[in-house]
Amino acid sequence: MLRSPRDFFKPKAVGAPEPLREIPVRPSRMIHFFDPSNPKMAAKVGDIARQVDIVLGNLEDAVPTDRKIAAREGLVKIGKETDFGDTQLWTRVNSLDSPWFLDDMIQLVTEIGDKLDVVMVPKVQGPWDIFFVDQLLAQLEAKSGLKKPILVHAILETALGVANVDDIANASPRMQGMSLGPADLAASRRMKTTRVGGGHPGYLVRTDPDPNNPEAPRPTAQQDLWHYTIARMVDACAGVGILPFYGPFGDIADLVACEDQFRNAFLLGCVGTWTLHPNQIGIAKRVFSPSPDEVKWAKRVIEALPDGSGAVMLDGKMQDDATFKQCQVVFNLAKLIAGRDADYRELYGL
Ligand code: GLV
Ligand code: MG
Repeated sequence: MLRSPRDFFKPKAVGAPEPLREIPVRPSRMIHFFDPSNPKMAAKVGDIARQVDIVLGNLEDAVPTDRKIAAREGLVKIGKETDFGDTQLWTRVNSLDSPWFLDDMIQLVTEIGDKLDVVMVPKVQGPWDIFFVDQLLAQLEAKSGLKKPILVHAILETALGVANVDDIANASPRMQGMSLGPADLAASRRMKTTRVGGGHPGYLVRTDPDPNNPEAPRPTAQQDLWHYTIARMVDACAGVGILPFYGPFGDIADLVACEDQFRNAFLLGCVGTWTLHPNQIGIAKRVFSPSPDEVKWAKRVIEALPDGSGAVMLDGKMQDDATFKQCQVVFNLAKLIAGRDADYRELYGL
């Protein structure tokens, strides 16, 4: 049971900003993670911010217990001192069942709430988790006099969260999007992979034996462990106008498999991915920006159907109202990216 539609867009605390009616769609090809407790990483944040669409100060997993406070305080300092230009600043706070979540929220929102675009909430189980974060954010925004609502991004990384993915997507007007968290999700489901994202050689299908040659090798094809979850996440997000993302790819040295994983997510509808290492940034940029050839083709189709209706043949391929819409998806994304990224503006000729 959700709130009355009449109340859905009312601020949840007196003095909190009005919720947004539409989630802003900005180029979001990569969410680059950094550890604010690591002084070497912290020193590079300004430079990194110029190369990526989103930088995220991570307070949760991968930050050791004895550096949780240093990470939080480091992020406050970085938030205050860094000029992020038009690059978004996000944070991943600790989970709701941790001893750090409450102080993460209080300190970040009251001290750098005006700089923070999105709070990523890990290990979300159901809409109740979002209701809680939503209410708390409203109180803290009101207390800090913030004018712009801080948005919420859920990590889809528990079995129960996947079962509730539609209700999570719809839980609050603050919901900006979701990311797949393949590591925690594998553990939560008791999947037997120890990898962070990507394929697994054991997950495959095999052809039948050849009746005339039963001993002959039987070709196999590796299947995608993450297809089901990504597809469910994309539908849940697209259905309510919020944005789906792939999450971490843990094998930093395997750039080829990383690119494949990113591209599968892009083709299925994700807008971006996490990048954990600088060497994944270029891959994310290349994969989540449509290829110049696709953009050229999309433009041709759009121009061939000036009012978006009817049917024409282009290079032997049927085009109609639906392909017009498909091409608009690609072309509008290209325009969005061209508005931010001069290299792609040139590649697309826009
Ligand atoms: C990300 O947080 C994951 O668990 O994969
Ligand atoms: Mg996780």
